[in-house]
Amino acid sequence: MSLFVVLEGIDGSGKTTQTFLLEHRLRKMGRRVYATREPTDGIIGGIIRAALTTKLRITHRTLQILFAADRSEHVKEIEDRIKAGYDIICDRYYISSIAYGMVDLDIDWLIKMNSVFPEPDITILLDIPAEIALKRLGDRYSKTFFERRAFLSKVRENFIELSKLFKNFHIVDGSRSEEEVHRDIFKIVSDYLD
Ligand SMILES: Nc1ncnc2c1ncn2[C@@H]1O[C@H](COP(=O)(O)OP(=O)(O)OP(=O)(O)O)[C@@H](O)[C@H]1O
Ligand SMILES: [Mg+2]
Repeated sequence: MSLFVVLEGIDGSGKTTQTFLLEHRLRKMGRRVYATREPTDGIIGGIIRAALTTKLRITHRTLQILFAADRSEHVKEIEDRIKAGYDIICDRYYISSIAYGMVDLDIDWLIKMNSVFPEPDITILLDIPAEIALKRLGDRYSKTFFERRAFLSKVRENFIELSKLFKNFHIVDGSRSEEEVHRDIFKIVSDYLD
């Protein structure tokens, strides 16, 4: 049976690193794996990236609608891969949209908009203090450091709040070494394998 795994967490929490490690670990076991990410590399994902890097100015609400549109296309691909027997590892999914979006928008609207998308089998949150995550990203001297730290601390709390509302949600301490974090993630995933 194929597994749909989502890795979540604030910027710099280690999602991309751990997606890669899990992908290789599952491949070594002989499983077929499709590692993917959101926002996607598609056209709508490109608009989202432009908005996130401030080249394009849009409202919070427009941004969330774009995330949902990007996801709406992405899940077609995910569902096809699941049907073909692939495990899916998705680097961010709807929990990220809700955790970041609810800083400025209504949580109920965000949850409702995202309720049409398939639920992952496992969501793993890489929990980490914003300060450590930003230092990893090499942001410790930037002018916006304190602003981003405050914002990401809020998003971290939102992720924890959401962990209580969604099923099959696991929290891993993301502040440890890559190997330790990987070991915990693999342990969680192993419990769901046939
Ligand atoms: N456990 C770890 N300990 C120390 N450094 C790490 C660890 N995991 C990842 N890193 C490093 O921290 C940086 C951010 O990691 P990564 O890109 O995996 O995070 P991310 O969650 O995907 O971030 P973003 O949300 O910005 O895409 C990278 O330089 C990576 O090599
Ligand atoms: Mg990443």
